[in-house]
Amino acid sequence: MKVLSFGSLNYDHVYQVDHFVKPKETMSSMSYARGFGGKGLNQSIAMAKAGLDVYHAGMVGSDGQDFIDYLVQWGVKVDYLVKNNEIATGHAIIEVCNGENCIILHGGANQAIGDRQIDETLSHFEKGDVLLIQNEISDLAYLIRKAHEKDMKIVFNTAPMNDLVFTYPLDLVDIFVVNEVEGAGLAGIESEDYEEIIKALQKKFKDTVVVMTVGGNGSYYIYNDEVIHQDAFKVKAVDTTAAGDTFTGFFLASYLKDNDVKKALELASKASSITVQGHGAAQSIPSIKDLI
Ligand code: RIB
Repeated sequence: MKVLSFGSLNYDHVYQVDHFVKPKETMSSMSYARGFGGKGLNQSIAMAKAGLDVYHAGMVGSDGQDFIDYLVQWGVKVDYLVKNNEIATGHAIIEVCNGENCIILHGGANQAIGDRQIDETLSHFEKGDVLLIQNEISDLAYLIRKAHEKDMKIVFNTAPMNDLVFTYPLDLVDIFVVNEVEGAGLAGIESEDYEEIIKALQKKFKDTVVVMTVGGNGSYYIYNDEVIHQDAFKVKAVDTTAAGDTFTGFFLASYLKDNDVKKALELASKASSITVQGHGAAQSIPSIKDLI
């Protein structure tokens, strides 16, 4: 079984601020740093750091060689990562205040992915292989359909959640990974009550696994009537960027290796509790040896 993570790569421009910028306001940041991010890249790095063999497919621009080197440094295979010299790599502007963040995305090369790249990439994968995606690249509906035609297992982290998600063939997804806001959105309800969200997800997505993180209240594994809860590890967060990506990557890596849901939830919770104690995205993701 091979694992293909087909997703975004962003230069993250991270500004520490004492409050989030308001309309009509010009403000100074307290510090600035540039790092590697993008939900796709973060999740590939998390899976690799969790000890899984992973291929990362996607697109960077003329300024993107550093991403390729970074992924290779962590053991991620980049055979299907395209460098397009006509375009710039995606980027994110991230304000961080008291551990929370606000993110503005510019898709760049992430939004130039099309049918041809997808066909070429998927030609190297087969029945039983796993595809992990998020909602930060173009042509996802086509990617989901083609991966399903090949009988690949499809894991969809529906972040960032927006109306585009409902234009995708969601009935072909095997596992959703969401937070509570995305979970409510996906279920089509307006609620902050976890029980209600879980019930709505169970009703809408029969025979589909949903893994839902709920911040300091932990995480849930939901499959039809089965619901398993994992408490969060209590730590002081300095920057929550990539916490969800760490969770997704570690959960999937552990679940695919051992097929043990409780173990996967616990490992993923522990890993993301370490990520939130560091600054930045990919750079704050721990390695499996840091969890033991
Ligand atoms: O989930 C965190 C990521 O979201 C950041 O690295 C940023 O690039 C955006 O994709």
